[in-house]
Amino acid sequence: MTQLPNVTINMAMTLDGKVSRPDGRWYGLSSRNDKKRMDEIRSKAEVLILGKNSILNDDPVIHLRYVEDGKDPRPVILLRSGTLPEDKKVFRFSKQPPLIFCLNENYSLVRDNLCSVAEIVLIPGTDLNPLEILKVLSEMGYQEILLEGGPSLNDSFFRLDLISRIYVTIVPFLVGKNDLPSITGGKKEYPNFDQKKWKLVASEVIEDEVFLIYEKQNVERIFGREL
Ligand SMILES: NC(=O)c1ccc[n+]([C@@H]2O[C@H](COP(=O)([O-])OP(=O)(O)OC[C@H]3O[C@@H](n4cnc5c(N)ncnc54)[C@H](OP(=O)(O)O)[C@@H]3O)[C@@H](O)[C@H]2O)c1
Repeated sequence: MTQLPNVTINMAMTLDGKVSRPDGRWYGLSSRNDKKRMDEIRSKAEVLILGKNSILNDDPVIHLRYVEDGKDPRPVILLRSGTLPEDKKVFRFSKQPPLIFCLNENYSLVRDNLCSVAEIVLIPGTDLNPLEILKVLSEMGYQEILLEGGPSLNDSFFRLDLISRIYVTIVPFLVGKNDLPSITGGKKEYPNFDQKKWKLVASEVIEDEVFLIYEKQNVERIFGREL
């Protein structure tokens, strides 16, 4: 039996709960303290899963800059369709080659495009089900997984009840525009969401930002679940 890996989410949001600017990017809204905190969280993970749109929009830097002697988690990217430009920072500056999960439909395209900068794994079937991805990661020996969004990718893991911890930073801005995403969200609400309360296990204020850690109430069940 394969043990389900431990999956944590780390996101930053504004005072009005938005995780991107109106232009779909996040630049300039996190302080140096938040970036340092992000690196500390990353240094505890073996794998860092990143959303395709987040890479396209934000082109995040993956290697640790604020934690000395920390080991960079291995980047993992889920591509259900199309591919990504190979000049993105995740391909240029990661210490370990990114692992890309894709489907039959786009496997040849991704392989032709990215095989020199990433390891490519074909997942049978027609969707990249997060449970299946966790199973493969677990078989590869990875147990500590960090998910850094965006909200669509986060939602696919929340919807299957696969997340045990949420790190949220509240940054001191109000965007004000309707229809911008929050840390997670799909077409429907989560069933019985009002009966599944998350437990606040830590909070810290540094200057104008608040750093929160929430854990699932029934963590034993999640940690104990087998695939
Ligand atoms: N504030 C923060 O902390 C933070 C952190 C990260 C991102 N962001 C913001 O989030 C925004 C992007 O979020 P997003 O929701 O548009 O996109 P996303 O979650 O970054 O990427 C979603 C895309 O990933 C692909 N994908 C592959 N497998 C998937 C699966 N199982 N479930 C869901 N998606 C899967 C899909 O594209 P294909 O079907 O084409 O493969 C999907 O459209 C950016 O604007 C960024 O600024 C904010």
